[in-house]
Amino acid sequence: MIRPQDNHLQKLIRLLTTAAANAALYHPEHRQVLRLNKQALNELQQLFSIHSNITLKVIDEQLIFANKPVAKNLAIDRLLESLDRNGISHLQIEPGVYAEELLGLINILSKTPDKQIEIKSSENIHFGQIEVRYKNSGQIAGLGLDEIAEHEADRFMDIYQTVRNKQKLEMTGINEIVNGFVNAFNSQSDAFMAIAPLRSMDEYTYTHSTNICMLNLAQAKVLGIEGQLLNDIGIAAMLHDVGKMFISPDILSKSGQLDEEEWKIMQQHPRLGAEYLLNTPGVPRLAVVTAFEHHMRFDNAGYPKTTRLWTQHICSYMTAISDTYDAMRTHRAYEESLNIDQIISIMLDLAGTKLHPQLTYSFLQVLSELDKKNAPSNYTSS
Ligand SMILES: [Fe+2]
Ligand SMILES: [Fe+2]
Repeated sequence: MIRPQDNHLQKLIRLLTTAAANAALYHPEHRQVLRLNKQALNELQQLFSIHSNITLKVIDEQLIFANKPVAKNLAIDRLLESLDRNGISHLQIEPGVYAEELLGLINILSKTPDKQIEIKSSENIHFGQIEVRYKNSGQIAGLGLDEIAEHEADRFMDIYQTVRNKQKLEMTGINEIVNGFVNAFNSQSDAFMAIAPLRSMDEYTYTHSTNICMLNLAQAKVLGIEGQLLNDIGIAAMLHDVGKMFISPDILSKSGQLDEEEWKIMQQHPRLGAEYLLNTPGVPRLAVVTAFEHHMRFDNAGYPKTTRLWTQHICSYMTAISDTYDAMRTHRAYEESLNIDQIISIMLDLAGTKLHPQLTYSFLQVLSELDKKNAPSNYTSS
């Protein structure tokens, strides 16, 4: 049975390790770190209502809390790794703990072999240390995709809300989210695996945008695209549907078919998105182009209407492929959930008309690699 304190502890550890990963990637006072630190402090308060102090011990590579082993997961593994790297065998936190002290702990957890941070107990945080040692294999912790999804979801909603309210978009937020994804991709030994955690939630904009981001990054990675272009492709994916924020929610969330008038309005989202992004400082040009082109189709028979000779950017073709796949997976457009074979056969049918053929084959290759490595249930239904 899961005890309430287990939930708080798991949350606390996830927040601390995510904050530490952010501190390692950016800097210890980064606002994302400060935000997670504040949330961690809240979780600690919940735990202190049950326990007089929080003592975590490491015994035989197992984390022990309140005399019981803590169920392992990615965050627990990461915490164990950090404690091990710093030679910390136990950690005690007292109820008086304040934000700066907790930030100190996060900084210690973010320590990597190339970063010197002194480990010393503070007023309310005490360390039990064995020898300090480093693991050569230890790499800077990348953010897990699931964790990004959890911690960034609300932030992303804020960003979209900003657009909806016709305010200026803050590109730093988008950049950070995409950087997190790119780092998560890079920290995975196998880029194919990174699209496994795709989830379908009701929060359409966030889920859809992050799905398209991950799918685009997977496509770009297998093509050998790296560096700034990879980041820009991720950013373009996150923002491809930003124009939908200017469409009435009644049309966006209508469950039945759109009538002719509504469909005309809906078809304006690429242009509205591109116009908005064009006027937003710091947005990569590629995001403007992708927002405008992502429904044009490979045969240029889509919308906005253009000449047959219009040449689209490769990112727009990729986004159309990711979009088509995501629509089938999350059955926004289909009543029944489709299995992977049905999805593949539909996409093969569309290759050369709606979708860019070579990029579609490459994408299906990504899917079949994933198929070999995962149980089909991971992605055949949603
Ligand atoms: Fe769209
Ligand atoms: Fe879309």
